[in-house]
Amino acid sequence: MASKKQRIGVLTSGGDAPGLNAVIRAVVKSASSLGWEVIGIHDGFEGLLGTKSYRVLTNADVQGLLPRGGTILRTTNKGHFGPRRSDELSEADPYVRAVKSIEEMGLRALITIGGEGTQRIALELHKLGAPVIGVPKTIDNDLAGTDRTFGFDTALQVATDAIDRLHTTAASHNRVMVLEVMGRHTGWIALHAGLSGGADVILIPEIPFSIERVAEKVHARDVQGSAFSIIVVAEGARPRGGQEMYIAEGRLGGIGHWVGEQLERLTGKDVRVVVLGHLQRGGSPSPYDRLLSTRYGAAAVQAAARGIYGEMVALRGQDIVTVPLAEACGYLNRVRPHSDLVLCARSLGIVFGDEL
Ligand code: F6P
Repeated sequence: MASKKQRIGVLTSGGDAPGLNAVIRAVVKSASSLGWEVIGIHDGFEGLLGTKSYRVLTNADVQGLLPRGGTILRTTNKGHFGPRRSDELSEADPYVRAVKSIEEMGLRALITIGGEGTQRIALELHKLGAPVIGVPKTIDNDLAGTDRTFGFDTALQVATDAIDRLHTTAASHNRVMVLEVMGRHTGWIALHAGLSGGADVILIPEIPFSIERVAEKVHARDVQGSAFSIIVVAEGARPRGGQEMYIAEGRLGGIGHWVGEQLERLTGKDVRVVVLGHLQRGGSPSPYDRLLSTRYGAAAVQAAARGIYGEMVALRGQDIVTVPLAEACGYLNRVRPHSDLVLCARSLGIVFGDEL
């Protein structure tokens, strides 16, 4: 008798990032070369609830997907999957229902593509017996356990391009330009883009700043004959002794405009503020992100073939390895204030707003 065809599932969860489709493509192509069937689950973990929403993905379905932004499976933020309230195995518990769906669908593995929130949900499902394998995604690059998440490089490219463009208009008008970039808890995009684009000031969540110190830097540049300045600020940055700023419940934003208003007041200069927002998340992935996503997708299928569950594929040096999901969810990968990158920026005269 012919043996039953092996099946794996794949879903995308949390905020989208360039490279999601490239991972899906790699999963489908690698699984198909093993003779396995791939089920694409819609709307993140939500697709496992209720009547279930999914479809079979074939090689034909992923044709042309490598450069395409977004996710063909769509995504949701957490949805019904908040923190588990008790260890009781109640039928009302979305985690219990999701594990039941995975069993009913006959999945030998479920590949969960997402950031820290996603991998936390995956870990809970694994504790209940689900065969999950994580793939690390987020433009913020703040997921622990891996050297790099896919999506970050593309966001960095968009942010650097924005700084380049702001430079020419800032210099033409002798203005201060403030660019607010994403980075909920960490300043990776601001730091890398600020260095790559030649910013004068970089403000990140890991280093609370003094706005007076930032104003001094702007003034010092004026005195030196550079009458314009570029300030890059991560959305999660905050003034010393102050709090992160929100535009709505759970939605960070507003720090760029606050910095702009304060600098206008303190320096008397003409200031303009640009909030880059979701331009950093949309569109085609960079070659680096396409490659990383492809490697992650293929490695996740390899992990399923070897029966490695409860782990996340990760980049370590030049290699793709797997690390326990518990490690990936244990802490956030933050910029170290005394790291080589920060010291490099300081040695170039870039101000972080904490200088004495
Ligand atoms: O975590 C990625 C991220 O892009 C953050 O930088 C940002 O704060 C957040 O997602 C915004 O997400 P959304 O607009 O989808 O709620």
